Amino acid sequence: MSRRLLEIENLCVEFDTPEGIARAVDGVTFHIDVGETVGLVGESGCGKSVTSLSMLGLIPSPPGRVAGGRIRFEDRDLLELDKEQLRQIRGREVSMIFQEPMTSLNPVLTIGRQVAEPLMIHRQLSKADAWDEACRWLEFVKIPAAEKRLNDYPHQLSGGMRQRVMIAMAMVCRPKLLIADEPTTALDVTIQAQILSLMSGLKKEFDMSVLLITHDLGVIAQVARRVMVMYAGQIVEQALVTDLFNDPFHPYTRGLLESIPKIGSRGQGRNVRLAEIPGTVPPLTETITGCKFARRCRHAFDRCREERPAVSSVSEGHEVRCWLKQHPEKRS
Ligand SMILES: Nc1ncnc2c1ncn2[C@@H]1O[C@H](COP(=O)(O)OP(=O)(O)OP(=O)(O)O)[C@@H](O)[C@H]1O
Ligand SMILES: [Mg+2]
Repeated sequence: MSRRLLEIENLCVEFDTPEGIARAVDGVTFHIDVGETVGLVGESGCGKSVTSLSMLGLIPSPPGRVAGGRIRFEDRDLLELDKEQLRQIRGREVSMIFQEPMTSLNPVLTIGRQVAEPLMIHRQLSKADAWDEACRWLEFVKIPAAEKRLNDYPHQLSGGMRQRVMIAMAMVCRPKLLIADEPTTALDVTIQAQILSLMSGLKKEFDMSVLLITHDLGVIAQVARRVMVMYAGQIVEQALVTDLFNDPFHPYTRGLLESIPKIGSRGQGRNVRLAEIPGTVPPLTETITGCKFARRCRHAFDRCREERPAVSSVSEGHEVRCWLKQHPEKRS
């Protein structure tokens, strides 16, 4: 029987901008069970990072704010905790690998100090013990000559090594939930494969849950059990990875899947033009009454432009926010 670790309900996050209020996250609902890896995909700017930052109370305010919703982590509502209570959870129970390692590693502190610090703060280890454990973690994430590297500064490491240090920092306190925001995007494919297998190994060993954010559906297919597709601040489809890849419902999801190059598919050996989704994401400051994808959707009909689609069930655990579910005749 699966146990819920995180439950997000109708989360809304807004930013004040010169053009008006931008609704970066607009009614997002999802859950993650203990030990589960869930992927979150979508085009740039659709609200993936903002969703994850709001879980840790890290939305810059002003100009941003959580405008509504609930974030339940075990038995606590994270939106009701004060700064100190959130700080206790951050790093110890929920930790995050940020999108860009150079902006989250402190350039003037050694690697050892940065990996050891959470151990001193959250697990009250002495400096010497924290340093020893930091060294073990660097070995664990396969950093060669770990002991020597403890005294290095971030700029002395390669991109792949920095990413490993970030993983070590995020893992030292053995969090229940790891949020990995594009953990491998900046890396070449061989290093990417190593980092993904490292994360899968750590996840199994510690029964950790992972929220994996990426725009790369190939990465999701390798490591996640379930996947959520986000578009303009909303989750438009979620399902088990196998169901989503075999039977995508939402026209946006279908578009995303059609735009991935496939080896060995029809047209192998010839130049096959990849499908692209026409148009761009609407500005988040615009109030859209109907479906946010309607103007890019070749199936769109009147109801899509007039009424926000309800979430409907395609099959067990497979949900979609699309009026085509109610009007299958419009799908052809
Ligand atoms: N500090 C801010 N001020 C104003 N708008 C912001 C701020 N931070 C984020 N946004 C807006 O929120 C929206 C969602 O941003 P977010 O960073 O979550 O996108 P993303 O899905 O993570 O994209 P990417 O794939 O590029 O990382 C964007 O349109 C962005 O402009
Ligand atoms: Mg992002």
